[in-house]
Amino acid sequence: AKLNPTIFVIFGGTGDLNKRKLAPALYNLFIEGYMPDQFAIIGTGRTEYTDQGYKDALEDAVCAFSRTGKVKEKWDRFGNTLHYCATDFDQPQTFENLKSCIEKYQKEYGEGTQVIFYLAVAPSFFPVIAESLKKYKLTENEDNSRIIIEKPFGYDLETAKDLNSLLSTIFTEKQIYRIDHYLGKETVQNMMAFRFANAMFEPLWNRQYIDHIQISVTEQLGVQDRGGYYEGAGALRDMIQNHLLQLLCLVGMEAPISFDATEIRNRKVEVLKAVRPFSQEDIRFNTVRGQYSKGWVEGQEVLGYRQEKNVDPESNTETFAAAKFHIDNWRWQGVPFYLRTGKRLNQTSSLITIQFKDVPHQIFSGSATENWQQNRLIISIQPEMSIRMQVLAKRPGLNMVLNPVDMIFDYKGTYKNDSPEAYETLLLDAIMGDQTLFMRGDQVEAAWELVMPILNSWESKKSINFPNYHADSWGPEKAEALIARDGFHWFNLPLKEKE
Ligand code: BG6
Repeated sequence: AKLNPTIFVIFGGTGDLNKRKLAPALYNLFIEGYMPDQFAIIGTGRTEYTDQGYKDALEDAVCAFSRTGKVKEKWDRFGNTLHYCATDFDQPQTFENLKSCIEKYQKEYGEGTQVIFYLAVAPSFFPVIAESLKKYKLTENEDNSRIIIEKPFGYDLETAKDLNSLLSTIFTEKQIYRIDHYLGKETVQNMMAFRFANAMFEPLWNRQYIDHIQISVTEQLGVQDRGGYYEGAGALRDMIQNHLLQLLCLVGMEAPISFDATEIRNRKVEVLKAVRPFSQEDIRFNTVRGQYSKGWVEGQEVLGYRQEKNVDPESNTETFAAAKFHIDNWRWQGVPFYLRTGKRLNQTSSLITIQFKDVPHQIFSGSATENWQQNRLIISIQPEMSIRMQVLAKRPGLNMVLNPVDMIFDYKGTYKNDSPEAYETLLLDAIMGDQTLFMRGDQVEAAWELVMPILNSWESKKSINFPNYHADSWGPEKAEALIARDGFHWFNLPLKEKE
């Protein structure tokens, strides 16, 4: 469909997120022919730039971080859509300039032109930006103006509620796009296709056949230069409250009646509402926090978290979190969901593992069953993009020996072309006005509500054993114990030989 002319305003236009993700994503969309025929990107920030200066300042980063790299003629054409308007949030009158800049393109493009404001700035600026947009009447047409908000959406339940209520005085919910970039990932979107476009999985997708589920997002990277932000966040806020709980919703949701934003978002929020709230006892037995100490990663010595830049040498912030969740509804009663995430772990990988129950009656015995393993479905989100079904099969030979084997759908092997970056998908959806992959206000609050008791309990009790795992390990021992107590172990994909 033909897209409406679009003016894309990026607050934080000189920042890191724009350089690494937003501008490269818009550039890729442009190259692939997905941008509207008429569009302008207006970067804002405190630094003064001319349009040309801004274009030059973004060139290297955009070409380096985009999938396509530099294509001279395309870059030049894309670069001509980049504009700059200095805005200082401490001096709201500078929004006057922004308004005239927007109006200039509105006039040029004519009726139906939409304006999308992207808040790629620290959350402390959200209120002043939102208020100024209101004051200068930049968001009044609810069909033609939208706001995209980056995480973190609130610092806790209360601040998330405050932010939602502030936004609701200025925008209607249909204008608000809360980003969780995990939802834009190709493999994550495929969860819906996989579950609801195939007849063979859904009948098994419940407590009758599923034993337990693991959602694991492990990273080899440390906090890098984000210590200042991370100190006030920690793994529970940074990853579980948003990304991992969104994955849990996609795995756990009921079938929507159509592929419609409201329908899908209703089904997702129902999952969060059904999650059993954590009692103090659950927190003690069914959650684990960790923090990395120094160690070696691929032959390089790396710092412990407490030695990282902008981190308190006695920091109590967790860089690892694991928890056992229960979903109290008919589908999932009795099926534990184990979630874990951490930095400076031994492998970078995001996996959802569905372990099925054992066969109801064992007909094999002796050596036939030596390698027995319950069926597993492993959805590998990244870096390997694949779905594997692990089943038992007879090993060729004169004896009956059963071995687990993988039936694999591998993106790279099946589809030769690159997958779009998460931000490409999400920005295009925002341009098209499709909110399916964005978080609704009630969803964000429901997710905060779930993690609040854990956050409060962890904050009230200093962790005396930090740091409690080495860089390049699998995290604290207690995380193994958390799942081992139930007779399971964390599942990891075998590491591939380096190419
Ligand atoms: C971000 C977190 O939201 O997600 C980071 O703030 C984390 O700490 C990142 O590293 C992980 O995203 P991805 O796409 O690299 O898995």
